[in-house]
Amino acid sequence: MSAIINDIEIIKSETTKINDVDFDNLKFGHVFSDHMLECNFKDGKWQAPKVVPYQGITLDPSAKIFHYGQSVFEGMKAYKDADNKVWLFRPLDNFKRINISSKRLAIPELPENYFMDGLKALLEVDKDWIPTNEGSSLYIRPFVFASGNGFHASPADEYKFIICTAPSGSYFAGDVKVLIEEKYSRSANGGVGFAKAGGNYAGQFYPTQLAVEKGYQQVIWTDDNTHEYIEEAGAMNIFVRINDTLITGPTSDRILDGITRKSIIQLAESENIPVEVRKLTVAEVVEAAKDGSLKEMFGAGTAAVISPISGFGYKNEDYDIPKIDDTYASFLKKRITDIQTNKAEDPFGWRY
Ligand code: COI
Repeated sequence: MSAIINDIEIIKSETTKINDVDFDNLKFGHVFSDHMLECNFKDGKWQAPKVVPYQGITLDPSAKIFHYGQSVFEGMKAYKDADNKVWLFRPLDNFKRINISSKRLAIPELPENYFMDGLKALLEVDKDWIPTNEGSSLYIRPFVFASGNGFHASPADEYKFIICTAPSGSYFAGDVKVLIEEKYSRSANGGVGFAKAGGNYAGQFYPTQLAVEKGYQQVIWTDDNTHEYIEEAGAMNIFVRINDTLITGPTSDRILDGITRKSIIQLAESENIPVEVRKLTVAEVVEAAKDGSLKEMFGAGTAAVISPISGFGYKNEDYDIPKIDDTYASFLKKRITDIQTNKAEDPFGWRY
């Protein structure tokens, strides 16, 4: 069956997988909804997107994505409120960021209407896939990659922009223990650390495997030059609470400009929580853990939302962060998810 919504052709799947999904036990990004958005760049321009049944993609073995890793992505979520209205959180920020990432990877930028209208058409078709259980949402993964062929190490002439969605539960199973990295680096000045480039994540897998073998779930990346400054955790930005002050590092060439990160800064400031956006040394965090002034550490990201960190490892020492009542993490998580799910006023105009 085919229809047109906002000038976007919709080709509906003849079957649905929705009855096979256990919405009470959702993992993160594990099952995928019935449809996806597909948009191709060829002959020098982006062609109109289409919503099509979720399906595999055929590529030539010489497609540049396989050889040169020319790809970028985004992470977003859709929520459904008690009246079955569907909400997104700051989606235009994701649209802008995918183009910032694309530009750095020499990928042609997307037109806003293809991204936004395409996303809306996809959600309209698959709105039954948006979970309503506490802590669940429809995770949205827009991505762009080089589908054009050839071994010449230069930008491709053809690209695909796809959006797939996955009804998802929490990214982490519980509290997270992190290892502060002393040797490997995620990014460098002048590099692509600020972009959501696929390769930024692949480069973290091996050091993260080593950390997992030692009992940690994530690596906290430090600056590539001195390894003295806390940067981000790869799947999330990092916040540290010392006494009553919430501290996070400034964004840079090396750190992703997280949408959850900047929302938390604004939200905390509006609640009169003292916030400092400044460079934070590992030594300061270790010292605070030793003298008891380190009250909290948490990660923030679309997938992670706000994920408390229960302890960290550094130079073969483990530091626990003793649990306290009334954490900023739980207060801010409730505030942000209430806004996202339309359970509370949105004084910032973030809900869409
Ligand atoms: C997100 O938070 O949406 C991300 O893209 C991070 C990813 C590692 C799951």
